[in-house]
Amino acid sequence: MSERAKPLLEARGMTKKFGGVLALDRVDFSVNAGEVVALAGDNGAGKSTLIKIISGVFPSDSGELRYGGERVSFANPHDARDRGIETIYQDLALADNLDVGANVFLGREPMTRLFGIVPVIDRRRMREEAAKTLDTLDIGLDRLDRPVRALSGGQRQCVAIGRALHWHAKVLIMDEPTAALGVPEQRKVVSLIQSLKARGVGIIFISHNLQDIFAVADRITVLRRGVNAGMRNTAETNPDEVVRLMVG
Ligand SMILES: Nc1ncnc2c1ncn2[C@@H]1O[C@H](COP(=O)(O)OP(=O)(O)O)[C@@H](O)[C@H]1O
Ligand SMILES: [Mg+2]
Repeated sequence: MSERAKPLLEARGMTKKFGGVLALDRVDFSVNAGEVVALAGDNGAGKSTLIKIISGVFPSDSGELRYGGERVSFANPHDARDRGIETIYQDLALADNLDVGANVFLGREPMTRLFGIVPVIDRRRMREEAAKTLDTLDIGLDRLDRPVRALSGGQRQCVAIGRALHWHAKVLIMDEPTAALGVPEQRKVVSLIQSLKARGVGIIFISHNLQDIFAVADRITVLRRGVNAGMRNTAETNPDEVVRLMVG
């Protein structure tokens, strides 16, 4: 196999049980650099479970994860993030009480020394660097010193995407990113996804909105009740066929 054909991230035979529920049964999945792969499926199909395994939230019962061609396992989400896998969860995982700059740096704050002695968080640097990154996204956030709580759903989503961009994520996982957004905000998120893709980021996009999926995805992987139900190139399928795969 040539280097180019190797997926950036690949899950093979992923299996996960929660008590008596078989949430995933030998599921295969992959994403290449610069590719957007949608993960589609009805409620309970196992989409979130699969991406939680990939992003280090919990281990699988069996199956293997390959990243950049080598076998990996992530102990926790921090570990996955350190390796370049950023995840934007349904609930966004932003800290409401902190400002935009602080959210871009959440958990990785730059330090400076007060009077050259006392270590403190370098807030000015945080804001300047966050501003630079968010500028390139053209999100139209005028002030970065506002708490994230004061932002709209779409702006919050954009801050989370900005964080992925700032830290040079290689893989960005988005679990239902457009679910709670109005139409203009959905468009913005879709256009940000396209610019990340152009930078070579591999994107896993979970949604049950087929319009969004067809707007951004190169490939669609469908799960149904914990198993692979089909995989299609977006250009070679249509929403009707994807729905049929989803419901079986
Ligand atoms: N933490 C958990 N504990 C118990 N059952 C879970 C847990 N997470 C998911 N499940 C179950 O696993 C199945 C797949 O869920 P999930 O991955 O959230 O599906 P989706 O994201 O496609 O809607 C469902 O039956 C769900 O109830
Ligand atoms: Mg889910």
